[in-house]
Amino acid sequence: MLGPQLESSVTVGGRPIRNRLYRAPLLECAGNGPEAVETLIDELEPAAASGAGLIHQGATIVREAGGCAAPGMTRVADSGFVERLEELTEAVHAHGSAIAIQLEYGGLRSMEVWHAGYRRSNPGLEQLVVSRPPWILRSLDRVGFLDLNPRVMDTDEVEALAADFGRAAARAVEAGYDMIHLAGANMGIIQQFLSPFYNRREDEFGIDPEVGSGVRFLERVHEEIRDRAGDVPLITKVPSEAAAPAPLQPRLSDADAIRTAARLDSIGYDGVVPVRCSVFWDMSIVRGAFPARAWRDPTLKEGYREAFGSRTRATAVAAGNWLQSRRYDREPGWNADLARRVRSRVDIPVFLEGGLRERAELDSYLGDAADLVGMGRPFYAEPRLPARLLDGPADTRAVCEDCNNCAVAQAAGASGNCRTPSVLEEAGALRKRGAYDRTGNERDDGDPTE
Ligand SMILES: Cc1cc2nc3c(=O)[nH]c(=O)nc-3n(C[C@H](O)[C@H](O)[C@H](O)COP(=O)(O)O)c2cc1C
Repeated sequence: MLGPQLESSVTVGGRPIRNRLYRAPLLECAGNGPEAVETLIDELEPAAASGAGLIHQGATIVREAGGCAAPGMTRVADSGFVERLEELTEAVHAHGSAIAIQLEYGGLRSMEVWHAGYRRSNPGLEQLVVSRPPWILRSLDRVGFLDLNPRVMDTDEVEALAADFGRAAARAVEAGYDMIHLAGANMGIIQQFLSPFYNRREDEFGIDPEVGSGVRFLERVHEEIRDRAGDVPLITKVPSEAAAPAPLQPRLSDADAIRTAARLDSIGYDGVVPVRCSVFWDMSIVRGAFPARAWRDPTLKEGYREAFGSRTRATAVAAGNWLQSRRYDREPGWNADLARRVRSRVDIPVFLEGGLRERAELDSYLGDAADLVGMGRPFYAEPRLPARLLDGPADTRAVCEDCNNCAVAQAAGASGNCRTPSVLEEAGALRKRGAYDRTGNERDDGDPTE
């Protein structure tokens, strides 16, 4: 039997979504300044206007200090600021789309660990950590490659952090967001709790032997969000660390990720996004080519120096990036087999992203590996990509070349956009031909029961 098509509607946690195409979370680098809301609207509204069912805003930070994984992240700890985001949610709703906010805290992934310039201007910042950092991070700290200043959270501090996720969710719901999305992967604090590579706690937040992950933190975050923000649809990324190099143990296997997703379903999460990644913040989540152009770009040189402290360190990071690109080449739909296995164990919607590029491919995964399908990097080159995918033939393909020039430039503080001329030319030609025009949502079926 034919599965649901991209245009068919779907319900997540009781919220009807007009179709199954979503924009995956990507950093917008909007910060919190006077232009922040306008920047977010500029970044996200085109996806709504061109027909995406659901837009995931990139990760935002639940506390006022520390914990940002990259330059320019937006914090959602201040009610005054979050209220202003109503302008963004209204702009998205005006086009009939739904919008999720992603909540995050960096822990060991924070800029104060890896960004030399940020560390210089914030010398006293500690990182909240789940357990003593793994030996490999301590070694990188000793040779001056990272700058660790960790403080292992006691049980009360973990509770306080879970409550901050709840408070941020409540503020977001007030501002009109339709869904809360937890940044459960990408090596933020949630992955650090889940992963046995990071979590050696002996209190209730340690590894749950039945599940194979430190899922208790996500349970507490769920309770906090339900208490403070009601029954807003709540989803999370669920990492498997199967892509990490073999010697890095112990880590989350696919089986651990599947059991974790099943537990989250049973306690009341409304959706999961299974992703295969590593135990580090490497290219396993953005597989593709070595971004040679971005590393050579003279306008980014100063930013790299600021981020990595010296030319030597920047060269070492670029070399590591090159090695990773050999290991993590883009395979179409690289999370699909994991998502399919998760989907066979849960009753909630499964979101699939990672290397999806073609309309026919999207349809083929729906009803099989996923209930909703999304793309990330292609939106940098084609902010109105949904118009082409929803209205085009089966061989419609995003112009993104997976070159990752968009990704690495962000370490240098550059905004998130495509910087590859051949890709931009192709998108420009499509624009001239009217490929991104969309007057209505003609092919969305509008039936939330599918
Ligand atoms: C520059 C950049 C920023 C990203 N920011 C986030 C983020 O804030 N939160 C998140 O969960 N994933 C983030 N991702 C991962 C994407 O959501 C997506 O999973 C990944 O890019 C793979 O999908 P794609 O092949 O369609 O790009 C980011 C990826 C890139 C390239």
